Amino acid sequence: MITTGNHIWDKKDIFEYMAVPADSHGRGRRILRPANYAVNTPGFGLYEGVLNDGTKYAVMNLQGRVFMNSCDDPFRKADELLDRVAKNSGAKVILLDVHGEATSEKVALGWYLDGRITAVLGTHTHIPTADERVLPGGTAFQTDVGMSGPYDSVIGVETELVLKKFLTGMPGKFEAARGNPKMCATLIGCDAVTGRAHHVQRIMLGE
Ligand SMILES: [Fe+2]
Repeated sequence: MITTGNHIWDKKDIFEYMAVPADSHGRGRRILRPANYAVNTPGFGLYEGVLNDGTKYAVMNLQGRVFMNSCDDPFRKADELLDRVAKNSGAKVILLDVHGEATSEKVALGWYLDGRITAVLGTHTHIPTADERVLPGGTAFQTDVGMSGPYDSVIGVETELVLKKFLTGMPGKFEAARGNPKMCATLIGCDAVTGRAHHVQRIMLGE
């Protein structure tokens, strides 16, 4: 699965790529956009699948509202998605990527969903946070998983170009940096029957 966020529509090729039926299990269906975007936009924010060993799983994608473009309430949308999973596949292993700017909003969603979902992992800031833990109800949580990309940069962009913009306020084209690539990830262990997490580990692989 690939989850996304506010850059999902940057290249228009993605519209057609994601225009697949809801019951498809093809590649276009396995890339998600935030579920709380406007109705009738292409794509889906929830996928339900089955692993080779028979374990049912679901992946959800939401976007925060604080300091970001407006979208529907991610808290109530999460309730709605969990209802749908309970009625459809009944999967217990459920992962949520919440793509959000504000740490408070992502932490709040973690507590809101604790005990009802396997993991709530934040993205968007590109900066990995050191707060990974399993909440009391058995939901693994981390405010932000962090960026996979060049760390000699300003969140992935060539440092000189960003500094110029901060120093002058002049517009300019941003380009991806290349130096010091790292991969950030978070590994979660969970009970396949209950879906509750028992382990969460922050990972940063260097060059
Ligand atoms: Fe983002």
